[in-house]
Amino acid sequence: MATARPLDGKVALVTGAARGLGRRYCQDLVAAGASVVAADRDDCSETVELAGHAGGAVVAVRLDVVDLESCRHAVAAAQDAFGTLDSVVNNAALYATLTMGPFDQLTDDEWDAVMNVNVKGIWNMCRAAVAPMREEGGGSIVNISSLAAVYGLPNALHYTTSKAAVIGLTRGLARELGRYWIRVNAIAPSAVKTEGTREFFGDHYEHALDTIAGMQSLRRSLEPADVAGTVTYLLSDASRFVTGQTLMVDGGTVVS
Ligand SMILES: NC(=O)c1ccc[n+]([C@@H]2O[C@H](COP(=O)([O-])OP(=O)(O)OC[C@H]3O[C@@H](n4cnc5c(N)ncnc54)[C@H](O)[C@@H]3O)[C@@H](O)[C@H]2O)c1
Repeated sequence: MATARPLDGKVALVTGAARGLGRRYCQDLVAAGASVVAADRDDCSETVELAGHAGGAVVAVRLDVVDLESCRHAVAAAQDAFGTLDSVVNNAALYATLTMGPFDQLTDDEWDAVMNVNVKGIWNMCRAAVAPMREEGGGSIVNISSLAAVYGLPNALHYTTSKAAVIGLTRGLARELGRYWIRVNAIAPSAVKTEGTREFFGDHYEHALDTIAGMQSLRRSLEPADVAGTVTYLLSDASRFVTGQTLMVDGGTVVS
C-alpha cells in the first residue's frame, strides 16, 4: 500500500515559479503529493518538467500578480485543472533585478514597482484565491518575506520595506480569515543560493553570502532545498493550528 504523503489531495498555486525558490517549492510540493499550478509572468515549462519528475500533477499558467484579473485567471486555471484550490504560495517578487543603493538614491519608479509586485501582488492573489478556499472549508496561504525585513537590510530600503509589509499583511489577514479556517503564514529566509541572489548582489555575491553565513548559528549558505520543507509544512495539516506567524528560515541568524 502506498504511504500517505503530507500534501495528498491538496491543490497549490505557486507564484514566481519560473525559476529559483518558486521552482523548488513546486518540485517539493508535487513530491509531497500536491497538485500544483506553477504561475509566473515568465515561462514555467522547465519548472513543469522538473516538478513532473516527482510523478505528480503540475500545470503552468502565465500570471502577473500586479493585475487582479490575471490573478483571477490563474485561480480559474487551477480550478479547471484540478477542480479546486486550497493552497497558495505568494513567492513572486521583484528581487533579482533591483538596484541596491543608499535610500535617497533609489528611484521613485523602482520604489513603486517593488511595492506593487511584492505587496499589492500578494493582496491581489489573496483576493482572487480566498473564494475557492472558503468553498473548500479552509486553506493555507504562505507569503514569502525575508530576513532582510527583520534584520533591516541596508541599501535596499524598497525591498526591505516591502518584505516587512508582507509580515504585517500576513498577521492582519490571518485574523480576518481564521473564521473561514484559512491559515495565513509567512516565511523569512536568509540569503539563498539562487540565480536571483547572484543577480541581486552582483560582484559582491560571494562576499555577501560568506558574511551572511557568518551571522548564522548554522554556518553555511542556504540552498533552495533548505527552505522548501518549511513551505510544505505550512501547507500541510501538520501545521493546522499555526496561523499569523512568520517562520525564520535563516539558520538561526535571528534567535527569539
Ligand atoms: N533568494 C534569496 O536569497 C531570498 C531570500 C529571502 C527571500 N527571498 C524571496 O523569495 C522569493 C524568490 O526568490 P528568488 O531568489 O527565487 O527570486 P527571483 O527574482 O529569481 O524570482 C522571482 C520570480 O518572480 C517572478 N515575478 C516577478 N514579478 C512578477 C509578477 N509581477 N508576476 C508574476 N511573477 C513575477 C519572476 O519572473 C521570477 O520568476 C522572492 O519573494 C524573494 O524576495 C529570496
